[in-house]
Amino acid sequence: MNSNTALSNHTISGHRGARGLAPENTLVGIQLAAHHGATWVEMDVQLTADLVPVMQHDRTINRCTNGRGSLHKKTLSALQAFDASQGYKGDNAAEFADQIVPTLEQALNACLKHNLSMNLEIKVHRKADERPLVEQVVKTVKAMNFPLDKLVFSSFSLGVLTYCKTLFPEVRRGLITSRHIRNMMEKATQLELFSIHYDQSKLTQSTAQKIKAAGLELHIWTLNDPEQAAMFRGWGVDNIITDYPDLFQGK
Ligand code: G3P
Ligand code: MG
Repeated sequence: MNSNTALSNHTISGHRGARGLAPENTLVGIQLAAHHGATWVEMDVQLTADLVPVMQHDRTINRCTNGRGSLHKKTLSALQAFDASQGYKGDNAAEFADQIVPTLEQALNACLKHNLSMNLEIKVHRKADERPLVEQVVKTVKAMNFPLDKLVFSSFSLGVLTYCKTLFPEVRRGLITSRHIRNMMEKATQLELFSIHYDQSKLTQSTAQKIKAAGLELHIWTLNDPEQAAMFRGWGVDNIITDYPDLFQGK
């Protein structure tokens, strides 16, 4: 597809940081993903009301923080006053009280500190958010001079990936999907994609073979059963995105 540097095979990504081990999309999640052998983290980025890219998955902050309401209506200072540990229900939840919703800059700095690569999911809940979000993400990555060999932009949205290619073509791009998209390989060629990130529960061996035959990296989400790792690796899966990187060491 393109001549971008390939990820080394058999890599593990912590999903939303490492959401089975720590509150999702937090700095402590990044730290624990690295501690448990992941070499990548997948995290979701959105914009605050004052246009700061921050790490959150949902449209509202209701599930993951002790605040309420739409994320895009909160300023950064209002958002960071809330505790982002609320969505985590593990037995050790008390250990993680008082987490902030990190900015993208804080998350990328944590990746540098822990020698992790970032699969940055550009998460759009409204079409109108696409362009401003991509613009601010690109601005942040450029201002930090973040190493591009440790970064992939990913999205369910072809519009987002198209705009990423326009604004910052040097950053590798991955299409996230939970189904076979019509003309997927043609779209991959047009967008000069690096990778396809497929819902593991929908992936077939035949689709995996097509993706690999097209020269694309194949990432799967979200696999939490380590017993299935060998089968997917046999299908050519390069990167397993999991909530529990601790269970996948060496798989
Ligand atoms: O990037 C793969 C995966 O994270 C997509 O689903 O809902 O967890 O963002 P979601
Ligand atoms: Mg995601």
